[in-house]
Amino acid sequence: MTHTNTEGEKPKLPMQGIAQPTREEVLKLPRVHISSHSVMASKMTSLRDVNTTSPDFYRLVKEIGALLAYEATASLALEPREIETPLEKMTGSTLAGGIGVTPILRAGLGLAEAFREVIPDVQVWHLGLRRDERTLQAMEYYNRLPHTVNLQVCYAVDPMLATGGSAIDAINVLKRRNIPRLSYVGIIAAPYGLLKLAQEHPDIDIYIAALDDKLNDVGYIVPGLGDAGDRQFGTF
Ligand code: PRP
Ligand code: URA
Repeated sequence: MTHTNTEGEKPKLPMQGIAQPTREEVLKLPRVHISSHSVMASKMTSLRDVNTTSPDFYRLVKEIGALLAYEATASLALEPREIETPLEKMTGSTLAGGIGVTPILRAGLGLAEAFREVIPDVQVWHLGLRRDERTLQAMEYYNRLPHTVNLQVCYAVDPMLATGGSAIDAINVLKRRNIPRLSYVGIIAAPYGLLKLAQEHPDIDIYIAALDDKLNDVGYIVPGLGDAGDRQFGTF
C-alpha cells in the first residue's frame, strides 16, 4: 500500500537521504570482530540465498551461531578444577561464573539455541524488542530478565544489526543489571548500525559473521538476507 500525507505527497522513507558510513570506515573500529573463517563464509552464502527454506535457514542460523559462540567465548575467565584421568590426577580448568545469553526476540532465538549447544548451562534472559518499520525505533514488549545477577558475562544476540536501535536498547537494559562484561553477537551488520552501537557502547565487544554494504531506504541490510525473524519461523 502506498501511504500519502495530507498534501497527497509520498512521505519520506525512514533511511532516505540519511548519510551512512562505508564498510572501510567502520572496519577500523576497535572491539569489532568480523569472522574470516572459510566455513563461515560458505554457510553465510547458503543463509543469504533466497531459495533456502525456513527449516534450513534455522539450521544454518544455529550452525553460524555456534561458530560465533566459540569466537565470542574464547577469552572467558577460567578457574582451576581438580580431576582424575584414567591415568593420574591433574588440574584442569572450568568456566568461572555464570554465562548469560539474551536473545532479542524473536530473531535472536536461533542464536541463543546455538549458545546453549556450545555451553549447555548458559542462562537465557529473554528480551522482546520490536522495530517499528515506519520509524525504525525499537520498542520493548517483553522482559524476563531475572533480578539476581550471578554472571561473569552476558551476550546480547540478534542476527541483524541494521540501524543499531535494537542492539543499543538491549545493551542499555543489560547495563542496568550491572553485569561485569557484556558483548553483542550478530550475524550481519550494516556499517551504519555497527558505528552507532560501537559509539554508544564503546565498552563492549561486538562479534559478527559479516559486514554488509548499507541499509536501503526502508532500513533493510543490503545485500543482507531479508527478514531474519520471518525466515527462521516461516512467517511471510
Ligand atoms: C529485526 C532484527 C533486529 C532488528 C534490527 O527484528 O531481528 O532485532 O530488526 O534492526 P535495528 O538494528 O534497526 O533495530 P524485528 O523488530 O523485525 O523483530 P523480529 O525479530 O520479531 O522479526
Ligand atoms: N531486520 C531484518 O530482519 N533484516 C534486515 O535487513 C533489517 C532488520
